[in-house]
Amino acid sequence: MKKREQWGSRAGFVLAAIGSAIGLGNIWRFPYVAYENGGGAFFIPYLFAMLTAGIPFMILEFGAGNKLRGSAPQIFSRLSPRWEWVGWWQILVSFTISIYYVAVVGWSISYFFLAFNQGWGAETGDFFFKSYLQLSDSPLNFQGIRWPIFAAVAGAWLICWVVLFKGVKKGIEAASKIFMPALFILVIIITVRAVTLDGAAEGLNWMFKPDFSTLLDFKVWVAAYGQIFFSLSIGFAIMLTYSSYLPKDADMANNGFITAFANCGFSILCGVLVFSVLGNMAAQQGVGVDKVVSSGVGLAFVTIPKAINSLPGPAFFGTLFFLALIFAGLSSMVSICEVSVASLMEKFDISRKKAVTLYCLVGLVTGAVFASHSGLLVLDIVDRFINNFGVLAGGLVEIIFLTWVCKLDLFRDHINKTSDFSVGALWAFCLKIITPAVLGYMSIANLIGDLKTPYGGYSSTSLFYFGWLLVVGIVVLSFIFQAHSLTQKRR
Ligand code: ALA
Repeated sequence: MKKREQWGSRAGFVLAAIGSAIGLGNIWRFPYVAYENGGGAFFIPYLFAMLTAGIPFMILEFGAGNKLRGSAPQIFSRLSPRWEWVGWWQILVSFTISIYYVAVVGWSISYFFLAFNQGWGAETGDFFFKSYLQLSDSPLNFQGIRWPIFAAVAGAWLICWVVLFKGVKKGIEAASKIFMPALFILVIIITVRAVTLDGAAEGLNWMFKPDFSTLLDFKVWVAAYGQIFFSLSIGFAIMLTYSSYLPKDADMANNGFITAFANCGFSILCGVLVFSVLGNMAAQQGVGVDKVVSSGVGLAFVTIPKAINSLPGPAFFGTLFFLALIFAGLSSMVSICEVSVASLMEKFDISRKKAVTLYCLVGLVTGAVFASHSGLLVLDIVDRFINNFGVLAGGLVEIIFLTWVCKLDLFRDHINKTSDFSVGALWAFCLKIITPAVLGYMSIANLIGDLKTPYGGYSSTSLFYFGWLLVVGIVVLSFIFQAHSLTQKRR
């Protein structure tokens, strides 16, 4: 048997795990989700979700990955061959995330260059949708590839390929040691500058002003749990894979806490940054912050560039902001790809170099749809369905399997043997009861919601192909892969 690759140091592993957790989700999603769901009061459900689901689940994934030391399908198969499909499910979910996630990293690369002279012009919305994306009117109306976007995305794949090609220690760990400190320094510099802008205090007031009445709304709690899962990279095999490269005697409990708190702290920092800038923009326009705030793609590529235009030293601010987005995106991207690379190596018994090259090429080609004229629309649907029915539902099945079907003590003993502190009854309660209950509720509510109201007003054909067919196809494929493995083993 080949010797499993290993992290060079504890710090290297922790930085890689933090690198995976901190990503696009922190910079463009967190500030808006917090603002939408009660502002300052949102921190209560957010911290609650982190403590009751995020951290316990992450420690469990660290424990399972480290104990069973394999890629996701192998980990599940070692526990019970009939559950291998869950691993494949997570691999396919990660693959899908990787091909649209990289598109956003590609846009960030383009915007980094545009930031030098604010090439996005005064009308940043028109520029982004009409000139840059040249967006078509429907997800199925591809109208060919936008080659400048494809080139930027290829650039992102190339960096990812180089990092993964070099392996766990020399590639992922080494890159994390550069990306993470650089990211923190960049974000701290721009945040310090941002909070000193006119109107920043007003922006922060909008974000942090607590609206405690929202705590009575169950939706706010659901939003907090949803944010925690994607943001901590749990439920889609990343932490299982990363912890399988830890030495047997590594700490897991404390590493889980460090990763989660670093991620949460970084999210808050991003909130401060984004809302200071928005406060400044609102003050200049003489309107309330609620008039300038936006979410996701709109926030990063329309609102922030517009705000940058009116800042003193826009090139400085703009280049640093998009560089931060690139670093955050790439380090998560690498972790999302490593999940599949590890399983390709195992399943087909091929070298890392071959697996990485194959993966990146397939990703570049299949992901070309996101560089088409309808790329953003397809991305919007895929992201929605993958999050609701891939990450959250996948996490639910995983946790039920690990805590109810398998014996949780199996992992607890392993974790407690080597961790700085022990996990006990409370940890088990969170994992066996709280997390499955919340995830179960969310999965059912999401299913009913999406069946009742077509998401985003898209046509049913578009939602069928890029939503339903995709998520059902992923589950079917997972069973096919499992059946293949079972027949191979019988031979
Ligand atoms: N955890 C990563 C993010 O938040 C995937 O973007």
